[in-house]
Amino acid sequence: MKVTAAIHRAFEIGKIDDRLYSAFIEHMGRAIYSGIYEPGHPQADAHGFRRDVAKMVRDLNIPAIRYPGGNFVSAYNWEDGIGPKEDRPTRLDLAWRSKETNQVGINEFAIWAEDLGIDLMLAVNLGSRGISDARNFMEYVNHPSGTYWSDLRRSHGVEKPYNVKMWCLGNEMDGPWQIGQKKASEYGQLANQTAKALRQLTPGAEMVVCGSSNDEMPTYPDWERGVLEECYENVDYISLHKYFGNSSRDTLNYFGKVEETGRYIQAIGGVIDFVKAKKRAKNDIYICFDEWNVWYHNREEDAKNWGSWDWPEAPALLEEDYTFEDTLFIACLMNEFIRRSDRVKIACIAQLVNVIAPIRAEADGPAWRQSIYWPYQMASLYGRGTALRVSVDGPTYNCKVADDVAYLDVAAVENHGEVTVFIVNRHLTDAADLRMSMTGYANATLMDHQVIEGHDLMARNGPGNEQIAPVAGKGIGVEDGELGGTIAPLSYHIVRLRV
Ligand code: AHR
Repeated sequence: MKVTAAIHRAFEIGKIDDRLYSAFIEHMGRAIYSGIYEPGHPQADAHGFRRDVAKMVRDLNIPAIRYPGGNFVSAYNWEDGIGPKEDRPTRLDLAWRSKETNQVGINEFAIWAEDLGIDLMLAVNLGSRGISDARNFMEYVNHPSGTYWSDLRRSHGVEKPYNVKMWCLGNEMDGPWQIGQKKASEYGQLANQTAKALRQLTPGAEMVVCGSSNDEMPTYPDWERGVLEECYENVDYISLHKYFGNSSRDTLNYFGKVEETGRYIQAIGGVIDFVKAKKRAKNDIYICFDEWNVWYHNREEDAKNWGSWDWPEAPALLEEDYTFEDTLFIACLMNEFIRRSDRVKIACIAQLVNVIAPIRAEADGPAWRQSIYWPYQMASLYGRGTALRVSVDGPTYNCKVADDVAYLDVAAVENHGEVTVFIVNRHLTDAADLRMSMTGYANATLMDHQVIEGHDLMARNGPGNEQIAPVAGKGIGVEDGELGGTIAPLSYHIVRLRV
């Protein structure tokens, strides 16, 4: 198939917020315990954190991480995780029917994140608790000294406050599964009052209010309107969550879900604009897409077993084995985030280790990178700077979730004398003959071309077998400000140009 595309140096979408490549990790399953933290593992450091896992995390260059939940946060007492480890209580975690030993709490997690250069994005419990608890937590974390909570932190060996800037006001508060589920207006009022209190303590702190748990909730998108009408002026972001799957084994429809995500972002953008106009507000609110990933391979199995276990510690929950098909899907999703980066400022892969994650850490064994590690890493490393508009003219298809889906999915970014073009050919059988004009980049030269291609759609990585990974690409050239080449079916290309 023939595809023509165009970029123009002056046609920008805008500056991408680095936090578009953030992550999320929750106290659930083996994400924390025997995930990032496993004292006694041969790779454990002095704090009990696994060096092999940390290295894989470091290579992702993650700017910020959302913690400690997720559903877990809605019944979490953060004070259980501070002070001498031997005095910490073991509690029942109602969200995941597990035992929480509290051996990792805010101070341990902050050490881990700081060592990796990752900023914290902390969620407060607005399910079983409220303003007072959120305030205490922030005081412990952010106040310098001279108060009960700040001096308690200092007595725990943390002299300096963490100065955490990003705060999430609860989690998925519309969900019937959530401890403390609320109606939109009730939650909106609580979020508003909590945000005001927290900003008294940390002026300039950024507040993320909960949108719908996903775009299939019966109250979506009325929930967003109702919540924002209560708190618009006091928050900075509204959260979106979406998990994807291909249970019907329809690859093109699966890939089409990226378009559906674009509609989701656009719809919430519209709700934001509506409430802003209605309130005659001056401030802008952006989207924090703080949970996204593929989650379906083991979902039915997990659901069948749900409730049958007797409060185990760190059970193996939601441990998806990702495929090459998922690699291509995530590559397209990252492209969509770049294209929508005018609205989406923060996005978090959910989650980071073991639980629906790009990194698997075998308990007492090796760590390895899943197939979806790579499109996330490539976007994080090379998808920063200014997003460019890309026009693509080529064959399209219709599927259950969307019409007119372009077979060739392209995004482009300019950053400090480099342009990176991300290309996915979603066609199942046909190569694309691509010609892309690059107005304003007459002297562009090819710096680097990496590709992931040639695998069975159901191929997976595993311990000692990381077959799905980028390799040097060929067949793409740049001449006189035009990029051209052959893009094989079911392939993902990262093309970096010096401009
Ligand atoms: O990431 C797993 C769970 O999915 C989170 O705890 C929750 O927020 C979402 O429903």
